[in-house]
Amino acid sequence: MRVLVAVASKHGSTAEIGDAISRVLVDAGYEVYQAVPDPDVALERFDAVVCGSAVYGGSWRPDAVRFLEVRADDLRAKPVWLFETGPVSSVDLIEPGGAGIALGSLVAARGLQVFGGKLDRSRLTVGEKVITRIVGATDSDDRDWDVIKAWAGKIAETLDKEAQVSS
Ligand SMILES: Cc1cc2nc3c(=O)[nH]c(=O)nc-3n(C[C@H](O)[C@H](O)[C@H](O)COP(=O)(O)O)c2cc1C
Repeated sequence: MRVLVAVASKHGSTAEIGDAISRVLVDAGYEVYQAVPDPDVALERFDAVVCGSAVYGGSWRPDAVRFLEVRADDLRAKPVWLFETGPVSSVDLIEPGGAGIALGSLVAARGLQVFGGKLDRSRLTVGEKVITRIVGATDSDDRDWDVIKAWAGKIAETLDKEAQVSS
C-alpha cells in the first residue's frame, strides 16, 4: 500500500514531523512518498494521504490549502488524515487548532491532529522576528515525538485493519 505524506513547512519543524510520521508508516510496511503538497500529484498512485501544514497567522500554508482545495474530490474518495503544527508554549496569543477544521471537512478527513510547534527566532524573517517580539514569544520546541509517533501508528493500524477486511 502506498501512502502520500504531503507536508507544508516554512522553517522546517513541520517537515521534521512529516519525517517522523513517514518513518512510522515505513516501519509498519507501507510504501511512503513524502513531498510538499502539489495539486498536480498523481493521486491515483496512492491508497491513503496524510497532509500537514504549519499554521501562521491562523492559516495553513498556501500550498497545502491549494492542494486540498484543488484535489478535494479525489481526496474525499481516499482515507485522508490531516495535521497542523502551531501552538508554542511561550505564547498564548496564537489560537491553536481550528485552522484545519474547514479543510478537514472539505476532504472528509478521518482525523485532524494539532501538534505543538517549534520556534527558533534565529531562523525567522525580519517581519516574523518583529511579530514574535511583540507577542513575547521565545524559543521553544513543543513537538512531542511520542504523541506524533503514536498518531502515525494509529493511522497504520487503521489501514492494516481495512486492508484485512477488503482482502
Ligand atoms: C510569525 C508567526 C506566526 C505564527 N502564527 C501562528 C498561529 O496563528 N497559530 C499557531 O498555532 N502557531 C503559529 N505560529 C507558530 C508556528 O506555527 C510554529 O512555529 C511552527 O512550528 C512553524 O512550523 P514550520 O517550522 O514548519 O514553519 C506562528 C509562528 C510565527 C513565527
